[in-house]
Amino acid sequence: EVNASGEDMPTYIVGTEAQFPPFEIVDSRGKVVGFDVDLLNAIAEDQGFKVQYLDQDFAGLIPALQTGNIDIIASGMTITEEREQEVDFSEPYITAGLALAVPINNEEIQSVDDLQGKTVAVQTGSTGFMKAEELKEAGGIAEIKDFPHVNEAIEELKIGGADVMINDLPVTEAFIAAQPDVIKIVGEPLNSESYGFAVRTGNTELLQKINTGLENVKASGQYDELLTNLPKY
Ligand code: ARG
Repeated sequence: EVNASGEDMPTYIVGTEAQFPPFEIVDSRGKVVGFDVDLLNAIAEDQGFKVQYLDQDFAGLIPALQTGNIDIIASGMTITEEREQEVDFSEPYITAGLALAVPINNEEIQSVDDLQGKTVAVQTGSTGFMKAEELKEAGGIAEIKDFPHVNEAIEELKIGGADVMINDLPVTEAFIAAQPDVIKIVGEPLNSESYGFAVRTGNTELLQKINTGLENVKASGQYDELLTNLPKY
């Protein structure tokens, strides 16, 4: 197949951890869907390339990119200074932030000031994990339990193995929308974070395509359309 400029369409392998609604989730047919996927698909179409999604653990995404197993990370990945040392990020495509969640019946924890001696559940390798480490070093948290997937962290809250979870707010909200009687969000968001698509350091050709495509998809109104049609989990 050729694109608008008459070139053979390249296929890029996209790594994602697809248990992170509404950004990526596997649908009933086993297909990876979600806002990140819709957005990257629109960018790919605009720029004349194809994408193929690979669902894998979040903590393995940057190593997979570095070794060349994947070409793009589209996984609700926050642009951070540490990660900038290891990958190149696109322009930010959405803003999110971390928030606390506790078991639905917990009245004790209302904010970060109530985490003294508490056990925190987080996703392995996530910014929630990094925030938990920061709070632990400052003496605020007793123990961190990390899990490959957010639903396992939620499960830990449910069974009483952890007191609180630190996770991206829109994702925790999506889980709560699907299961309203398990956990609840408490306090203010802990920060503001921007998500970016990541490519291998120095892969400027692909990065350029992603950034130009993102601009076009925003300008066409397609971006806003995708945002209002987020998948239900
Ligand atoms: N935004 C957070 C981070 O960059 C969590 C992302 C987790 N993404 C996922 N698809 N599981 O660390």
